[in-house]
Amino acid sequence: MPAPFPHLAEPIRIGSRTARNRVMRLATVTNLGDATGVGERMLAHYRAVARGGAGTLITEALRVHRSDGGRHTAMFLYEPASVPGFRRLAEVVHGEGALLIAQLNHGGRQHFSRRVPTLWAPSALACPRSGGVPHEMTPAEIEDVIEGFVRSAVHAREAGLDGVEVHGAQGHLVGQFMSPFSNQRTDEYGGSLENRLRFPRDIIRRIRLRAGRDFVVGYRLGVEEFTPGGLTIEDSKRVARALADDGAVDYLSLSQGIFNSLEMHLPDRHFPAMPFLDLHAQVKAEVGGLPVVTSTRIQTPAQAEEILASGKADIVGLCRALIADPEWTAKALAGQPERIRLCIACNHCWSLVIEGEAIACTVNATCGREHELGELQPVAAPRRVVVVGGGPAGLEAARVAAARGHRVTVLEQYAQLGGKVRIAEEVPHHEEVGNILRYLIPEVERLGVTVRLETEATADAIAAERPDAVIVATGAIPVAPEIPGDGSVPVSTSAGVVLVGMLPGDTIVVMDEDAYHWAAAVIETAAGQGKQVWVVTRFFEPLKELPIVSRIVALRMLDDQGVVMRPNAFVDRVEDGDVVIRHYYSGREERIPKVAAVLWVGPQTVNNALPAELRARGVGEVHVVGDAYAPRRLTDAIREGHRAGRAV
Ligand SMILES: Cc1cc2nc3c(=O)[nH]c(=O)nc-3n(C[C@H](O)[C@H](O)[C@H](O)COP(=O)(O)OP(=O)(O)OC[C@H]3O[C@@H](n4cnc5c(N)ncnc54)[C@H](O)[C@@H]3O)c2cc1C
Ligand SMILES: Cc1cc2nc3c(=O)[nH]c(=O)nc-3n(C[C@H](O)[C@H](O)[C@H](O)COP(=O)(O)O)c2cc1C
Repeated sequence: MPAPFPHLAEPIRIGSRTARNRVMRLATVTNLGDATGVGERMLAHYRAVARGGAGTLITEALRVHRSDGGRHTAMFLYEPASVPGFRRLAEVVHGEGALLIAQLNHGGRQHFSRRVPTLWAPSALACPRSGGVPHEMTPAEIEDVIEGFVRSAVHAREAGLDGVEVHGAQGHLVGQFMSPFSNQRTDEYGGSLENRLRFPRDIIRRIRLRAGRDFVVGYRLGVEEFTPGGLTIEDSKRVARALADDGAVDYLSLSQGIFNSLEMHLPDRHFPAMPFLDLHAQVKAEVGGLPVVTSTRIQTPAQAEEILASGKADIVGLCRALIADPEWTAKALAGQPERIRLCIACNHCWSLVIEGEAIACTVNATCGREHELGELQPVAAPRRVVVVGGGPAGLEAARVAAARGHRVTVLEQYAQLGGKVRIAEEVPHHEEVGNILRYLIPEVERLGVTVRLETEATADAIAAERPDAVIVATGAIPVAPEIPGDGSVPVSTSAGVVLVGMLPGDTIVVMDEDAYHWAAAVIETAAGQGKQVWVVTRFFEPLKELPIVSRIVALRMLDDQGVVMRPNAFVDRVEDGDVVIRHYYSGREERIPKVAAVLWVGPQTVNNALPAELRARGVGEVHVVGDAYAPRRLTDAIREGHRAGRAV
């Protein structure tokens, strides 16, 4: 039988090494290191990714110098003491058949800290997004940082890694030297493109000298900064040509955006698939035979195969796709692409790591917890497990319990599985949330779970199944509070989000107590259908929990649509068809005239009567998971469903 994805499966030469296939796990901060550096959690995570079949793994961005003040949690390689840990990491990754390359980085003036750290940069210009005027590096400091890159590369070699990747993309220090947006030096490191290229060239040349020709040296290149006064695709083509002509790098890995255009760096579900592929292909066309890695919102093996077949790149780089399913490559190459758990592009992973927390994934409950959870253990004696509720929490619980060998029945009151995700996936731009159902439902079927639809589970009906264990995943019901006043404006929940825009009248008030994707979905839907939307929230800023990249997209879109924002305020009462809002701190009132409806997003009551009733009927083992435990997020639903599936 021919290979299902022949281009993807083809080995490729990268400098002195050969990768077993064309999939590269892009650099991904995990924050899984411990006080000793690489620890068991990090080893287990990298093992899972390598075991999943990717040909090459790039480590997370590793600090090269103590002056990298914006990323205190980041791992580093500039001290000899870090070598033994990375040696173990290389052994683990090599043991699974993949190459391991260390990404070397310095964040320069970009940071996510709430308090401005001491920052180093080519010029004393603040990054407009992260703020904080950096210290302008002296020639001696430049030399010291270059030496930090070189020392780190030498340590990577000593640790047995296959190579290093110099991070020149995404507006970090190397990119800052390259870009006139951040580099206004008048010495040999500033001014002409030739001068701005000096910093990366010095780093690459000196790594080559000290680490040798038989060590892979790659370069991550930002192809477009999407910033007035920043690097453009035309500049980047010249840079790529220059690096290729130098002959000092073994591959180019392409990315785009800087902190000032962060939403381009990891576009969310408001963007189409592979939005920057054609930009990347323009760079590929400039560099002859130098292997080029493309990236960004490549979701499926079919997309990846098509890219490689068309010659737009030589390697496909995946980050979020492998966070959602580290077995992406193995499933693709085994001819089972439909079994891949696709990313839902919510950027939860990224919002955790930029705050210094360990990586996790909304749809993959094991991501970042590989060491703690271990492999799924088959059960010696199968038990009868009843799962009540066929939303994401119940389906994940059923999948895991069935995969371990239990006899599982799911009871769902409606005619279809999916719970509230069915509502979310109907909302324009949020369709990809449904990827989790397109994974879970077929898996549950494949594993032989019995699904009873249109079956409202009562305690008696469940007890009649004589279960050994029950998992209650019945979710929560959106509610809206009683609002003082004359009742002249209807106050409703946002459960029927897709109908929001069809409400009569022109003005809608959204009271946002969710601050996340649900609120965004409601506001976008109403504004997109021509309503004048007022967003009122007691929080300091609207949509405060959305990952920054998604928040940028949402806020831009809502501003374009004329949505009015009232942070630090709440809906106080309704009178004569108007809504009166009040400043949460000062008490100042504001009247919004002629409002068609107030939609309250956030409050929910848990659907949790069953556990007590079941216990009263003698069912000894009852687990309550997801929104039924406390109304929260999809990530909590799937994590708790997963744990319950392991616990029964
Ligand atoms: C528009 C919208 C957008 C959202 N977007 C996001 C997002 O982007 N990211 C995110 O993290 N979260 C999002 N959420 C929230 C997320 O969907 C929920 O947190 C998640 O679905 C909770 O999962 P669950 O399985 O616990 O509950 P539910 O999804 O509510 O599923 C519960 C299931 O139990 C069934 N059930 C209840 N009682 C019984 C019974 N007695 N017998 C049989 N069946 C029963 C219900 O019919 C339902 O199918 C969104 C929600 C909405 C509405
Ligand atoms: C959690 C997370 C961590 C990341 N860490 C890095 C990093 O350390 N270095 C880097 O160059 N890019 C990093 N990125 C960006 C990715 O490498 C990649 O360019 C981006 O996610 C787009 O690819 P994707 O659509 O396949 O996710 C990170 C992205 C995510 C989601």
